[in-house]
Amino acid sequence: MEKDIQRILITEEQIKARIAEMGKEISEEYRDKDPVVLGVLKGVVVFYADMVRHITVPCQMDFMCLSSYQGTKSSGNMIVKQDMSVDVKGRHVLVLEDIYDTGGSLNYTYQHLMSKQPASVNICTLLDKPERRRPGITLKPDWVGFTIPNEFVVGYGLDFNEHYRNLPYVGVLKPEAYEK
Ligand code: IMP
Ligand code: MG
Repeated sequence: MEKDIQRILITEEQIKARIAEMGKEISEEYRDKDPVVLGVLKGVVVFYADMVRHITVPCQMDFMCLSSYQGTKSSGNMIVKQDMSVDVKGRHVLVLEDIYDTGGSLNYTYQHLMSKQPASVNICTLLDKPERRRPGITLKPDWVGFTIPNEFVVGYGLDFNEHYRNLPYVGVLKPEAYEK
């Protein structure tokens, strides 16, 4: 697995430090708001587990799973494969995402959430790849862990063909690994 990584883009230590920083800000923002922390599966699982442990105020955890019905392309048309289980009407929702790439999935998630009439929706994404943003997408995350260049990354929850999610850092995949 490690041999397929061209270079480490963000180390475990950097991720840890940034999550602690964001955790402080998020805990401040959500004091007395009892937010629903929504994870968009499955890329977010590793980030989610680390992030919620730095949220020091009461909150509830929930998940949803999106699926693109044009296969694995990140900007395909989306459907909700598994919806949330908490009723978020009138609640404050914090969305956690692994990466904001073309923006298609986060926008879809946002629209889907808004139809449930929450009190507020904020977004925290571990990674942001602004160069890839689809024209017309204006949604801005409230917290961005790291802004990264336009390269395909894996690890810390992010996959290529469902692999590499368990790497503890974010790395760039060698081109040979794509072509396998
Ligand atoms: P979107 O293009 O912003 O809709 O991103 C959709 C999804 O594509 C993300 O939630 C990731 O699961 C996946 N994705 C986008 N860029 C990368 C990448 O560099 N590595 C791995 N997965 C990615
Ligand atoms: Mg994802």
